[in-house]
Amino acid sequence: MKKKIVILPGDGIGKEVTTEGKKVLVKIAELFGHAFEFEEASIGHDAIEATGTPLPDETLTKLKNCDAILFGAVGHPKYDNDPTLKVRPEQGLLKMRKELGLYANLRPIKLFDELLEASSIKPEILKGSDILFFRELTGDVYFGEKGRKDNGNTAFDLMIYQRYEVERIAHKAFQAARTRKKKVTSVDKANVLESSRLWREVVQEIGKQYPDILLEHQFVDAAAMKLIQNPKSFDVVVTGNLFGDILTDEASQIAGSMGMLASASVGDKVGLYEPIHGSAHDITGKGIANPLASILSVALMIDISFGLKVESETVIKAVEQTLKQGYRTADIADAKTSKEKILNTGKMGAQVVNQIATVRDRIPVSNK
Ligand code: IPM
Ligand code: MN
Repeated sequence: MKKKIVILPGDGIGKEVTTEGKKVLVKIAELFGHAFEFEEASIGHDAIEATGTPLPDETLTKLKNCDAILFGAVGHPKYDNDPTLKVRPEQGLLKMRKELGLYANLRPIKLFDELLEASSIKPEILKGSDILFFRELTGDVYFGEKGRKDNGNTAFDLMIYQRYEVERIAHKAFQAARTRKKKVTSVDKANVLESSRLWREVVQEIGKQYPDILLEHQFVDAAAMKLIQNPKSFDVVVTGNLFGDILTDEASQIAGSMGMLASASVGDKVGLYEPIHGSAHDITGKGIANPLASILSVALMIDISFGLKVESETVIKAVEQTLKQGYRTADIADAKTSKEKILNTGKMGAQVVNQIATVRDRIPVSNK
């Protein structure tokens, strides 16, 4: 299979983790006989420094002409500490999502058994948790009208949803539930917000087309509590952009660490794959970032965008094996992890790459 992949390292640890994701793609191509062609492009703070804009036209053109995108992270403390700055790295990410029509953000929350102890939640509550979030990604307060009035003393961001935006993400969630435990939890704040009442109304309507799926609704505040209290009660969760942003960071604790969570953004055409963690400037350049979220994003890419199921399973198994052998990056190590087993970013990537060959050798010939 021949595919063109654009790598957008972005800022902070984005570069470090996508380097490891790319190594995995190269290994998969070599072992399974695919031709992956890579191109790099700039986004975020780096792009602002070089061109004055966080998403240069040159980058956008490359993105519109490729088969999949591997993205790192954007952000820089300089902007976080100065809210008056008008041009910001995150605008590049938001514009990219909008321009590419990436309206559905899939965030699978699955705990590897080996990491039961790495979470701050009790193992007996966590064990067996497996949640798939569908976060709407191109609407809501993120893209509604925003501004200032009264000489800058009043600020607003409009929370807005249109029927078709809710319909298309709801369909995706129900369809995914059919391949899982057949339950969808829709999360909103319909007791207060009009946009949430439209959300609930539309999800109920779409739900009628999927009588085999159990649909329940939760308010976002209660959902935030239940995620920690009883994560196993969730299967597929569908929610708006802002609620999804917050709940999935919370849910990362179910997977042990932010460093483990991959995501896929899909919609009209090309798919974008990225860790849910950010640029993490506090650890940038130290070589200690966890590359597993980027590597697991690669597994999502080759499955969802390229349909390479066996290859994708191989990457996930290789990560599992690496963890089984006791290897950890610092963020997922615990008191029992010996010093020699705590790996830096590059060594963790290399371990997974080695495991890919071992796992592949065990696949029955008929599936290769
Ligand atoms: C995410 C991030 C982004 C978001 C930021 C960087 C704009 O937090 O992908 O979850 O809020 O969507
Ligand atoms: Mn976020």
